[in-house]
Amino acid sequence: MPDSPLLGFRNVWKTYGRGEAKVHALAGVDLAIAKGEFVAIMGPSGSGKSTAMNIIGCLDTPTAGVYSFQGIDAGRLDRTRRAVLRNLYIGFVFQGYNLLARTTAAENVELPLIYRGVPAHERRSRAMEALEQVGLAGREHHTPGELSGGQQQRVAIARAIVTKPALLVADEPTGNLDTARSHEIMDLLTELNSELGLTVVMVTHEADIAAYAQRTIGFLDGDVASDTSSLEAA
Ligand SMILES: Nc1ncnc2c1ncn2[C@@H]1O[C@H](COP(=O)(O)OP(=O)(O)OP(=O)(O)O)[C@@H](O)[C@H]1O
Ligand SMILES: [Mg+2]
Repeated sequence: MPDSPLLGFRNVWKTYGRGEAKVHALAGVDLAIAKGEFVAIMGPSGSGKSTAMNIIGCLDTPTAGVYSFQGIDAGRLDRTRRAVLRNLYIGFVFQGYNLLARTTAAENVELPLIYRGVPAHERRSRAMEALEQVGLAGREHHTPGELSGGQQQRVAIARAIVTKPALLVADEPTGNLDTARSHEIMDLLTELNSELGLTVVMVTHEADIAAYAQRTIGFLDGDVASDTSSLEAA
């Protein structure tokens, strides 16, 4: 059943530099992603994946065209309002985990709630719930140095979902993990997508990781070159 659109690109361009040095990182992208989708973005180096992800995550804005998120023309918002939108609706997961060292798993997960002014006792209970959702109950007092790479990425995912975002943006979430750990993380993202209805947009270079997504969008030279849904094929 088609769900309502979460985000959309309409003839989006992102241009860096000027004159001879001008680069079109995005060249007229049209794209829509619905609530609840699990999307993989693939494509060669320099094809515009990270540029698109930065716009999707409301970290950056188009040079031309319209980027809408939750029905809002997010590309026209100033920095402060985009930050509010991110805080409310978007969780981020990166290749390198980005956890605070010498800080426990629970404290790392609580961080976005501190920024939101959630009281301490509620922060702790929500962090514990998120850690349980990612399969890390019992590890809440461990620091990143006391956790494996896969476990650290689980903490990062707990931190991303503790605010109950509508969208999870993940740039190569398994890039630093071995094959077995990568598949465990993908099983977790699949579960969060299906059980919480969390929309997931992920960049990956690996076809077997992209295969977890329902839809794969291929970028080439700053535009969408392919868009395939595994549900259609089934
Ligand atoms: N801040 C910037 N200033 C100038 N050019 C940039 C900037 N960011 C990206 N580009 C250029 O835009 C194009 C797209 O870059 P982008 O980072 O989106 O590619 P990518 O698909 O994420 O590649 P990779 O797989 O290597 O991460 C490239 O030609 C890149 O050099
Ligand atoms: Mg990139």
